[in-house]
Amino acid sequence: MIRFMEERDLCAVAEIEKGIFSQPWSRDGFYSSMISKDTIYLVVEKDGEIVAYCGLLQALDEADITNVAVKKESRGQGIAFAMLKELMRLGEEKGINAFTLEVRKSNEAALALYEKLGFEVAGIRKNFYDLPKEDAVIMWKY
Ligand SMILES: CC(C)(COP(=O)(O)OP(=O)(O)OC[C@H]1O[C@@H](n2cnc3c(N)ncnc32)[C@H](O)[C@@H]1OP(=O)(O)O)[C@@H](O)C(=O)NCCC(=O)NCCS
Repeated sequence: MIRFMEERDLCAVAEIEKGIFSQPWSRDGFYSSMISKDTIYLVVEKDGEIVAYCGLLQALDEADITNVAVKKESRGQGIAFAMLKELMRLGEEKGINAFTLEVRKSNEAALALYEKLGFEVAGIRKNFYDLPKEDAVIMWKY
């Protein structure tokens, strides 16, 4: 089930985030983003458990996809694809017609996911990431 993120999901979301990223967002970081009127945050719930989440930040008719993660055990089942399709559908309803994101150059799974969703590479941001230092690939979908 794909649904809007709620306050009761935040501990599970922060726990997944901590297990994946070297500079994870905190529970409070997710909370303040989630309650903003300029964001959309979704979770995927399976058998009562949060297995994935994503979010975007809107600026006029454009949006930055700020978070995308699927729990290790739930990957490879089309969850990220379905979740991001829904995120962009809801975004379009709010007037968004261009989506952008950054992704680590070495993150082949995410790069393939975004290409499958119709994103195209627009450029490279040198040394954008820390821990470890790495370039970001900037992608856009119109
Ligand atoms: C990237 C990530 C979100 C993909 O989630 P997922 O639910 O496993 O992805 P899906 O099953 O929806 O896959 C959709 C498409 O993505 C691509 N993909 C997903 N995993 C892949 C992998 N390990 N290798 C290559 N391509 C992959 C494929 O094109 C796939 O389509 P296909 O099944 O027809 O081949 C997940 O691996 C993850 O959470 N990674 C860690 C966090 C992260 O990197 N977030 C993105 C930060 S920018």
